[in-house]
Order: sequence, then structure tokens, then C-alpha cells
Amino acid sequence: MHGQWSSRLAFILAVAGSAVGLGNIWKFPYVAGQNGGGAFVLVYLLCVFVVGLPIMMSEVLLGRRGRRNPMSTMRILGQEESGNRHWQLIGVGGLLASFLILSYYSVIGGWTLHYVVLAARDTFIDANAEILQSEFNGLVSSVGNLTFWHSVFMGLTAVVVARGVEQGLEAAVRFLVPALVAIMVGLLVYAITSGDFAAGLRFLFEPDFSKLTPTALLIAMGQAFFSLSVGMGAVMAYGAYLPQEESIINTSIAVVSADTAIALLAGLVIFPIVFANGLDPAEGPGLVFQTLPLALGQMPGGSLVGTLFFLLLAFAGLTSAISLLEPVVAWLVETRGMRRGSAGLLAAFGVWLLGFFTVVSFNVAADFKFLRGTFFDNIDFLTSNILLPMGGFFVTVFAGWVMCPNSSADELDPTAGTIYKIWRVLARFVVPVAVALVFLNAIGVFS
Ligand code: PHE
Repeated sequence: MHGQWSSRLAFILAVAGSAVGLGNIWKFPYVAGQNGGGAFVLVYLLCVFVVGLPIMMSEVLLGRRGRRNPMSTMRILGQEESGNRHWQLIGVGGLLASFLILSYYSVIGGWTLHYVVLAARDTFIDANAEILQSEFNGLVSSVGNLTFWHSVFMGLTAVVVARGVEQGLEAAVRFLVPALVAIMVGLLVYAITSGDFAAGLRFLFEPDFSKLTPTALLIAMGQAFFSLSVGMGAVMAYGAYLPQEESIINTSIAVVSADTAIALLAGLVIFPIVFANGLDPAEGPGLVFQTLPLALGQMPGGSLVGTLFFLLLAFAGLTSAISLLEPVVAWLVETRGMRRGSAGLLAAFGVWLLGFFTVVSFNVAADFKFLRGTFFDNIDFLTSNILLPMGGFFVTVFAGWVMCPNSSADELDPTAGTIYKIWRVLARFVVPVAVALVFLNAIGVFS
């Protein structure tokens, strides 16, 4: 049976470890850049607090009530609350999403490991934008290099999950997030003094709604789900370990705020550098790797700071990757009777194989495009913008409509106070309607 977190702080650290990762520092700036900035960021923030936060609360509450892996939790709660076992399909969708996300997440995690080495070797010192661009292109055009680092990253993830030492990571996360923020603040000082900070601010916060296409709207919502780790059961899996007396409301608000602050911080560092150097904000997945090294190469002690930064980023990615592998492994262990070690290795091997689709998306298969673009583009779009929102939709519909109010109040707030009431309105009406509208809009129903 499940153990429990030692304290509320431990739970916050675990969920924050899952939420804070490559999504904040690698993905948020580049998707914001590709989708025109300001208006996109505004929609993103709305989605985080109006849609993402209530979903996170719903996931934790279901997880704590079910106290099992997400699939078993949804089956048991579905039966308990409505006599219907099909709610476990939410769990199935979540497992699929986590598998697919991890397959590309590990490849990008590998990029950060490669950049640890580059920074340590003084590669960034006095490098200009062109050198850094070709450095990045050199990495992604090499199947061998990408495969090597993808394997290292996936291997690290597998070892941690197989040994079940996540609890030991509490300590790591406790140090990791503040250290990452400290370095980012250092980089922010550079961005303010040496970058075009005014242009960066304008880009991020001056909304130009003509840039907000229906697809951009869907991508902003998808990014909110991805960054908060909601919609696939990762948070539900962690909720299963939360002690009964802890407040789900407060912990969720803390995690969501921290995650959002870190994403905005990343944007505030990166865009001033982009505009001061005449780079393209819509550069794509390479954006962070081509901009931050510029700053690192010009500041005193840049090699050391850069090594630390990419190491911390890789670690932040690792704690997220662990939360992506954990639901699959918990499911294999709890329902297929596998040993934890073998389950971890088996799942990691499957993910590792799938990662090749992403590896080749940046080189030999870069021109092979279908639907949304390369394999990577499609896996990313399918997971962030379809599977996660769908998972979140059904989770809140379950928590808001199917679950009896006594059960949900019991978990969230037995006195059924104001925040509980707000949550219930959001979960019953606002979240499902918002997700549905954004979907319908994106497939062109309203145009
Ligand atoms: N939230 C993580 C990040 O921002 C990624 C993630 C998504 C982790 C979904 C778990 C589940 O990097």
C-alpha cells in the first residue's frame, strides 16, 4: 500500500518538482515567441489560474481519495460515486500522454546535459549569436549525439524511479528550485542592464490580439496544462500520498504561483537578449539554447554560472521526468504485479525507443512533415494540446458533477467555505466550458 509524504512541504516540493522543469524555461519562452508574445501570455495566465488551478485541486483531491495509481483511483472512485468503471479511461489517457511526453522530454533533457559540458568547456565565452546558432545546429543535426544524451537522461530517470528513491529527491528539490531562481535572477540583472529590456517587456506584456489565432489560443491553454503537469495523472499520483490533514487548496495555490513566476522570469531573461541581438523571437525549440549562452559568455564567471545553470535545469527536468514515468511504473507494479525495478526498466526502455521519433525530427526526418509538422511537432501537439486538456476536462467533470459534494468538500474544505464554492463553480462550469470552447474554436467551428 502507499506510504505518505513526511509533511506538507514534502508534498509541495514533489509537485513543484514535477511542475517546474523544461516547460518553464525551455518551452514557455519559445511558444510565447512563436505565438506573438503579449496576447498569448495573457491567455496563458488566464488558463493557468482559471483552468489549471482548479484542475490541479481536483487531481489532488481525487488522488488523495483514491490513494492508488491514477488508473485504479479513477476506477474505484468511478464505481464508488457513480457505479461506472469507465472513468478509468481517464487513467488510460493519462498513461498514454505521460509515455508520449516523456519520449520527447528526455531528448530535450539530453540537450541540457550537452550544454552543461559546453558551458564547462568555456564554449560560450565571447561567442556571438552566429557561433551559438551553429553550435546548436551541430548538436541537433547529429543523430549520434542526440541519442547519446537522450540515453543518459532516460537512464538517470529510470534509475531513480526503479529504485523508488523519489523521497530522497525531496531534499534535492528543496535546494534546486531556489538555486535555479537565484541564477535566473542573476541573468535577469544581465538582461536589464545589457539587453533590450524595454523591448522584452513590451513583447511579453503588450497584448496584440490580432496575433491570437484560434490555434494560438489552444497552444496557450496546452502550455498551461503542460507547465502545471496537470491532465495526465502525475499530480493525482502524488496526491495519493498527501496526509489527510493538509490543505489541498493552499498547496495547489503555492505550486501554481511558483511555476508561473518561474516561466515569466525565464521570459523576462530571454526576450531582452533576443531583441538586443537582433535574434528571432519565433526561433523555436532552440531559443533558450541560443540566447542564454550569449549572456553567459559575456558575464564574469559565465562558464561556472552556465555549468551550474544547465545542471540545475537538467535536474529540474529530471524531477519532472520522474513524475512522468512514475504513473506507468506504479500501474505496472500495482496491477501487473511486476517488481518495481523491472517495471521501471521496462517502461523506460519503451519510452527510450519512442524517443527516436523525436531524435530524427531534428535531422534526417526534419523534412518529413505531416499534420502539424515533424514527429516531434505532432507528439507535442497531440499531448499538450489534446490529451492533457481532455484529461483535465474529464477530471474536473468527475470531481464537479459526478462526485457527490460531500466527498469533494470532505477533501477540500469540510466547512465548504468560499474558496470551496468558487472551486466548485470553476470545476462544474468554467473549466469544462472553457476547454470545450477553445477546442471547438481551434477546429474552426466558430469561423
Ligand atoms: N510540467 C513539466 C515541465 O514544465 C512537464 C510535465 C508535464 C511533467 C506533464 C509531468 C506531466 O517541465
